[in-house]
Amino acid sequence: MRVLIIGCGFVGERAADLLHAAGHEVIGATHSSESAERLTAAKPWRVLACDVSDADSVRRLAEKCAASGPWSPDAFIHCASSGKGGAPVYQAVYVDGMANLLATFPQAFPLYTGSTSVYPQTDGSEVDETSPTDPGKETGRLLLAAEKLALNHGGAVARLAGIYGPGRSFVLKNLLEGKSGIEVTEAASDGRLLNQIHADDAAAALAHLVTNKLTGIYNVVDDAHLTQRACLEKLALLFNLPVPEEKAPDPGRKRGWTHKHVSNARLRATGWTPAYPGYFEALHHDPALVPSILKQVMDGGEAALPRAENIVLIGLMGSGKSTVGRMVAHMLGFQFADTDHLIIEKAGCSIPEIFAREGEAGFRERESAVLRSLLGCRHCVIATGGGIITQPQNLPLLQHLGFITWLEADVKLLARRTANNNDRPLLRGEEPPQVKLERLLTERKPLYKQLADLRIQTDELSQQESAYGVAESARIFFAQRRA
Ligand code: S3P
Repeated sequence: MRVLIIGCGFVGERAADLLHAAGHEVIGATHSSESAERLTAAKPWRVLACDVSDADSVRRLAEKCAASGPWSPDAFIHCASSGKGGAPVYQAVYVDGMANLLATFPQAFPLYTGSTSVYPQTDGSEVDETSPTDPGKETGRLLLAAEKLALNHGGAVARLAGIYGPGRSFVLKNLLEGKSGIEVTEAASDGRLLNQIHADDAAAALAHLVTNKLTGIYNVVDDAHLTQRACLEKLALLFNLPVPEEKAPDPGRKRGWTHKHVSNARLRATGWTPAYPGYFEALHHDPALVPSILKQVMDGGEAALPRAENIVLIGLMGSGKSTVGRMVAHMLGFQFADTDHLIIEKAGCSIPEIFAREGEAGFRERESAVLRSLLGCRHCVIATGGGIITQPQNLPLLQHLGFITWLEADVKLLARRTANNNDRPLLRGEEPPQVKLERLLTERKPLYKQLADLRIQTDELSQQESAYGVAESARIFFAQRRA
C-alpha cells in the first residue's frame, strides 16, 4: 500500500522505516527542506518538504508525490509535531493541518496521532477510549478538534502516551540530573501514574492501524502503569542514587497534571502487542536506551554523571584484569564479576564457539547485554573483555558503572601470557599474535585513555602491587566523591 507520513520525527521516522521494511511504498513529509535533505540522504524511502499548516504547501506536496508518475496515497499518518508551541501552533499544525490533508487526499485512509493528555482524570482511575475527555485547556480542545476531523472522515486516531526511546527519556534524565520528585496529592500518595510507550512500539501501532485500516480511537500505551514512586525507587536502585523526595505537582506541565491508568486493551484486542511491555523491560533490553541518556547527561554538563561504587578494569587481553581484579575484590571486600565469564554462563558455550556461530558482532551484542545487566551493582570489581570499549554504546555504561582502571603491559609480555590458551579467537587468525596485539593496541589506545580514571603500567609490578594500587586509588576516588 502507499502511505504518506506527515512528520518524520521521533515516531514518524520509525513508522516510515517499519512500513518500508514491510514492503509498502512510503513517502515521508517533513517541515523543512533541510530535514528533508538530511532524511533523504539517510533513508531508503522518499522524503519531501511540506508545511502541513499551509494548504498550498500540502497541494504542492500532492504534486511532488506524483512528479515521477501517478502516486496517490492509500493512507496517510498525520504525526507532525507542534514542537514547543502553544495553542496557535496546535491550531495550525493539528487542526488546519488535518483539514488540509483531508481536502488534498480525500480518498486516503487518515490516521491522526493524538495524545492521552486529552484524558483529564486525576483520581487514579482506569481510562479507556470511551472515558470522558474534557480538558479545560485550549490545547486539549484543539487536539480533540483534530481527532474529530479524522474520525468524521472514517479514519483512526492513535492517542499516544508519553513517548520514550533512545535519546529521549525525561524520567531517567531528570533522575540522573537530580531533578526528579515524586508528585504527591491526596489522590496520588505515590505520585502520578506514568503512562508511557516506547517509540518503537508507538511506531508499530501506527503501522498496524494504518495497514489494517482500523477505524476509531486507540490508546497507545504499554502495560506497566507505574506510579512515580515505584518507577523512581526502581531507577534509583538501578543507578545507585538516592530515591527522589516528594514534591508538589507541577501545574505548568505541558501535558497537564493527571493521574490515571490508560488502558491499551482495545488496541491489544486488534493484535498489536508491545515489544516492551514496560519501561524496565526497555531499560534492560533496548541496547541504545540507557547509554543514550547517560551520554546526554555527560555531554549536557548540567550535572556530573552519577558513578556507582564499583571498580571497572579495562585493557588488552592478557593484561591481568581477571587476576588483579580478584585480588582487588579480596582487598576491599567487594564482589567480583568478569564479563567474559558472564557471557559464557549465559550462552552456555565458550567464547570461540560464540565467535564461530555468531561472529564477532554476535559476541559484542552479548557483551553489551551483560554490561547492561550489571547496572545496579554496588561494591563490585568488574573485569571486562579487552574489546568492550570498541562499542560506542558501552562507553557511557562503563563510565557510569564505576572507577575505571586501565591495566597496561608491554605487548611482548601480553603475547607471551596469551600464547598457551585457545580461548581468544581474535589471536587465532592468520596474523601472529604479537602483531595482532600491536594493532589492537593502536586501535584501542585512544579509547582506553579516554575512559581511564587511572592507568597502571604493570610491567615492573607484581600482581599484588598492581592490585594494591587499584584498591587504594579507588578508595580515594570514592571518598572524594562522597565528600
Ligand atoms: C577480546 C578479549 C577477550 C574476550 C574476547 C575478545 C578482545 O577478553 O572478550 O576474546 O576483543 O580483546 P580478555 O581481554 O579478558 O582476554
